[in-house]
Amino acid sequence: MSSSSNDPQLQLIKTIVFLASLSPLYEIVWYTVTGRFGDYPAWEIIGLTGEASLVFLLLTLLVTPLRKIFGWNGLIKLRRMLGLFAFFYATLHFLVYIWREDNFIVHEFFLDMVKLPYITVGVLAWLMLIPVAVTANDPMMKKAGKNWKRIHSMIYAITFLSVLHYLLVRTWNPTDVLYYAAILLALLVYRFYHARTVKDWVF
Ligand code: HEM
Repeated sequence: MSSSSNDPQLQLIKTIVFLASLSPLYEIVWYTVTGRFGDYPAWEIIGLTGEASLVFLLLTLLVTPLRKIFGWNGLIKLRRMLGLFAFFYATLHFLVYIWREDNFIVHEFFLDMVKLPYITVGVLAWLMLIPVAVTANDPMMKKAGKNWKRIHSMIYAITFLSVLHYLLVRTWNPTDVLYYAAILLALLVYRFYHARTVKDWVF
């Protein structure tokens, strides 16, 4: 099933996905306004935005397998949006942390990075997401040329680092992390299988 960018059905789906993607943000605003957060609202926001970012990374990776399986090419138009939401929530996550923990004092933040391996891994994932987000538009796609695919394939490594970051946060109870790790593993198996059969690495 093919679709063009001005297909009304696709536009409607894009609008619904956009509004649904804002739900972690609605939750944060609603909990803040109604005072439903506990004693440490910033930490709850860090938890919510971290999890949201990881979910959007996995959704971004899920687009190609779903497109291939169901043959709906229009799905590709959603991938960019989902990836940008992953970056948006990761940036919010990072900003709330550096504000709450380090008061935006850069050297304090560097000390955290040295002391806490989970922060080092999280920062690495976030830094790698920057070029992906910056090139997620048509002019930059043209400018990046052949490198575009390489840059965007980093999403796999970024998601791996994000799962590792989560695992380091939750060493005492990694059950939730294992679900995310299993989804990532399934996506990687699909990608390797696909690369071997059609001699093409798909993102
Ligand atoms: C792509 C980038 C990142 C992703 C996808 C990500 C994802 C996550 C996830 C899923 C969690 C667990 C949330 C939960 O407990 O429900 C988390 C926790 C956390 N992340 Fe990140 N993270 C990223 C980058 C960063 C960065 C750059 C920092 C800080 C500089 C950071 C700091 C934290 C902290 C402080 C926690 C909570 C630790 C705790 O609850 O004790 N993360 N992150």
